[in-house]
Amino acid sequence: MRIFIDSANLAEIRRAVSYGIIDGVTTNPSLIAKEGHDHHDQIRAICGILDGDISAEVVSTDVDGMIAEGRELAKIHDSVVVKIPLIRDGIKAVGALASEGIRTNVTLCFSPLQAILAAKAGAYLISPFIGRLDDISLDGIQLIREIVTIYDNYGYATQVLAASARSPLHVKEAALAGAHVSTLPYKVFDKMFSHPLTDIGLEKFLADYRRTLVAHA
Ligand code: G3P
Repeated sequence: MRIFIDSANLAEIRRAVSYGIIDGVTTNPSLIAKEGHDHHDQIRAICGILDGDISAEVVSTDVDGMIAEGRELAKIHDSVVVKIPLIRDGIKAVGALASEGIRTNVTLCFSPLQAILAAKAGAYLISPFIGRLDDISLDGIQLIREIVTIYDNYGYATQVLAASARSPLHVKEAALAGAHVSTLPYKVFDKMFSHPLTDIGLEKFLADYRRTLVAHA
């Protein structure tokens, strides 16, 4: 499974990348706005931190605007994957950008039917939002399972990127469901490392060892 960090904060991305196991970054207009810098400059800076897919989202909602923005975002760096919202004009833009060799990440996906349309348009990635479905008492992971099954049934090349993760459990369930990628807020990524029995076990190993050192001193 590839793991991406869902952030536009350079310090947070650098901290995650320092573990050597991060495969990419996803941003969205809200995450970019939080950093308060020029959109393209922030994406360019992120591309300088790691080699991997860097998702940068358009803010146009008409097909011509999305295509034009997508071309400009793609020029920033070869790592850029253009994020396009799953709306009617977005599906048209995905097809046009794909025909120009520009990779797209179709975002704000909340149904398997939407995911079929994105795959048929030639999306590189599809981003079903697990957490936002769970937030309204629907089953986000079930959406991942359904999309993976449908894509496998028809051999669609589009990769499933499990997005809007709220907990490490989402990562586990998305992996069991066969998602190709999980994108995580830093705090969810950090929780993946932790287990109380690991801490207890290590403490006992070291205490026992130190005791033998004293005994043989
Ligand atoms: O960036 C796409 C997605 O991961 C957003 O997640 O937490 O805003 O629902 P969230």
